[in-house]
Amino acid sequence: MNTLRVALDGPAGAGKSTVAKRVAAALGVAYVDTGAMYRAITWKALQKGIELHDEVALTELADSIHIDFKPRSVGQAVFVDGEEVTDAIRSFDVTNNVSAVSAVSGVRVAMVKLQQDIAARTGVLMDGRDIGTVVLPNADVKIWLTASVEARAQRRYQELLGKGIACDFEQIKEDIQRRDDYDASREHSPMVKADDAVVVDTTGMSIDEVIAQIETICHSAQ
Ligand code: C5P
Repeated sequence: MNTLRVALDGPAGAGKSTVAKRVAAALGVAYVDTGAMYRAITWKALQKGIELHDEVALTELADSIHIDFKPRSVGQAVFVDGEEVTDAIRSFDVTNNVSAVSAVSGVRVAMVKLQQDIAARTGVLMDGRDIGTVVLPNADVKIWLTASVEARAQRRYQELLGKGIACDFEQIKEDIQRRDDYDASREHSPMVKADDAVVVDTTGMSIDEVIAQIETICHSAQ
């Protein structure tokens, strides 16, 4: 297996996971969706009725939770303590609360350790917000994937419409902006571009063009 370690960070809705799955498969490295890990904790906290300002309870949850990824024909299935939550962690409820949970330092310490343990065993492409700065500061490749908030909201809007989910464009845009602001202004490992990350602005680019550009950047690092 390829031992390359790639950090792919950027704001909400920039298309990181779609791109990451395909580039990881092409490179022959494991794909780790770190956002899914923070979403999994948020889902479990909501299920258990944990108060989202209770840092002690959230830290205990993060220390004891078992999160598994299993490959599927398309993408990955996510399990929390043996229960499949692949779709549940994408709900509006989880999306609207995940930034508060992921701002808790005890939650971050637990997740960063899990992520670093995975990267110590295998080549990876990890997507998130703090991979190039905190999780894998010595990654072989660092990419900051971004797009205008309009373009990101438009993609999310089309995706939801495609699934037959009624939604409001302005509301989606507002939610994306609010999540970015929260993630970028938190005290512990805020979302920020690593100084040595290559910026890929996907506004106006197709998925295939983005993938080709990222593969070129990764190949030049090998
Ligand atoms: O990538 P995704 O949108 O699924 O991430 C969900 C949330 O998880 C982000 O808005 C952010 O609050 C949190 N997150 C994080 N650090 C990461 C990955 C995600 O704080 N490495």
